[in-house]
Amino acid sequence: MLSAVPAREVDAIIRLMGAFRDDPRPDKIDLGVGVWRDALGRTPVMRAVRAAERRLVEAQTTKTYTALAGEPAFHAALARLLLGEGHAADRLAAAATPGGTGAVRQILELVRLADPGATVWISDPTWPNHPAILATLGLPTRTYRYLDRASGGLDREGFLADLGRARRGDVVLLHGACHNPSGIDPDPGLWEELAAVLLATGAVPFVDMAYQGFGAGLDADAAGLRLLARRLPEVLVAASCSKNFGLYRERVGLALALCAEAATRGRVAATLAWLNRQNFAFPPDHGARVVTDILADPVLRADWEDELAAMRAGMDANRRAFALALREASRSDRFGHLAAGRGMFALLGLAPAEVEGLRARHAIYMVGDSRVNIAGLTAATIPVVASAVARVAAEG
Ligand SMILES: Cc1ncc(COP(=O)(O)O)c(C=O)c1O
Repeated sequence: MLSAVPAREVDAIIRLMGAFRDDPRPDKIDLGVGVWRDALGRTPVMRAVRAAERRLVEAQTTKTYTALAGEPAFHAALARLLLGEGHAADRLAAAATPGGTGAVRQILELVRLADPGATVWISDPTWPNHPAILATLGLPTRTYRYLDRASGGLDREGFLADLGRARRGDVVLLHGACHNPSGIDPDPGLWEELAAVLLATGAVPFVDMAYQGFGAGLDADAAGLRLLARRLPEVLVAASCSKNFGLYRERVGLALALCAEAATRGRVAATLAWLNRQNFAFPPDHGARVVTDILADPVLRADWEDELAAMRAGMDANRRAFALALREASRSDRFGHLAAGRGMFALLGLAPAEVEGLRARHAIYMVGDSRVNIAGLTAATIPVVASAVARVAAEG
């Protein structure tokens, strides 16, 4: 039977991680995988996480099963972080999931149950796992214009025009903050215009929030999502605590569905719990409990926010220094768009052959679409990478 299993390509980012690991060159530089790194290239356990884990180990008396949808305290704490104080909790259904990927999957399964014919709109470009999960679920998918590749900025007109074509009941998948892979986000005015378009078409926004706190701050990064939640009857959310709590391998995520009426909430919550049961039964608990405890304890929370702010400042500094180094190395403004981006990622706008040249000749690894992890740069590697990028770009 198993010989009939079709061959399958490994995900490009996972493949890149393997190629980097196997590269014997001592000066190799990894700008591929999306993990935050400090100036020494490490991804440490955050201070508040370590403190909360210590407490948890001491206080926990059982490892018995929790609820199928995870702990209500986790739902409430993360919903407040995402949606702010005073959100419509009576209309909000929630389920804990294994990471943000799990939340994306569960929400899209919910969409399929509600309407298997619903078209899901994704940005061009987007995180490759979005179309991959959609294809696995067999949901109709369309792309909307997002990045203007000529300028490296947002194609406002294309974005609004394409989403204006969505139909009632379609789902529009948006990146909450720090768009992956471009790092280019809508400004507050564009979120307003988007809300008006969604209201007019009757399409439902689905906000994938994987980098809250990496862009401009915890509240600023959630402002677009909060606006949609205030203006629109229904909003879907997939949240990840992998990056902003550094809990990658613990798999902490939350699926949220804001319903039009409180009367629908119970049915949607039960369906999210049922979907968990079908796919993995109980969601991981350890990391979710750590997040809940950090958000509830003023001292731990303040320390977490401080460390997150320092991470954000480090990425901003790297981004500015890299943009400057690229300007000097290329003697041009070709990479000027980098400075307008936010968070961990930027697209350099190189051709696949140029990305391959960087890997083969300079031991610099980035994703094939020329996405770089800004947090993977250091003061020492910024000039090295900038001069190698300028060289391959000049060679064409
Ligand atoms: C856009 C986007 N959504 C969701 C995720 C989910 O991450 P995780 O499943 O590790 O929480 C990521 C992680 O790279 C991402 O970039």
